[in-house]
Amino acid sequence: MRLFIAILFDEITIQNIKAVQERFKKLGCGNFTVEDNLHLTLVFLGDISQDKISKIQRIIDEVSEKSFHLAFDHVGRFQREGGDIWWIGMQQNMELEQTQYRLSSKLKLADFILENRSFTPHITLVRKFISSEELDLKHLMGQMVTTRVTAICLMQSQRIDGRLIYTQLYKKELR
Ligand code: 2AM
Repeated sequence: MRLFIAILFDEITIQNIKAVQERFKKLGCGNFTVEDNLHLTLVFLGDISQDKISKIQRIIDEVSEKSFHLAFDHVGRFQREGGDIWWIGMQQNMELEQTQYRLSSKLKLADFILENRSFTPHITLVRKFISSEELDLKHLMGQMVTTRVTAICLMQSQRIDGRLIYTQLYKKELR
């Protein structure tokens, strides 16, 4: 099973993120993330056998109790041949970073093999984005979007009939 741990967002936040995505749609083409798949990945686990799920759940339960706020205030990109990945990013946030650090440390201690890249928190809006326009990043972002993080979720990623489907396997509510 292809698994990752993520933060999902409430409906209003999703609509606010979609407004940013809509501005990209007007300026070019690419593989736009469908509404149901908008999320912030904390840890990508990759292929994991089903019998490890309860261990991952326990680790998610251990790392965090309290909800916290996030403020999305910029768009950015990962440069790729054939079109960049564009995302929405957020103000530096200690609670987010600590949660991510605790999760990945505990997973590594429990012998999960994680990628060694540094954590760049982002919500992918579009992949393989091609535009002939000059992009005004401030305009693309628009007003800051704020949200409260109330849960951490274990997610499964599957390709079904060519479509990328994310399914929530476990949800840890934050208070
Ligand atoms: P992305 O949005 O930048 O592609 C499920 O694939 C989630 O895990 C996505 O949010 C994806 O980030 C993230 N992820 C991190 N590392 C990944 C990897 N090596 N392969 C696939 N997804 C990865």
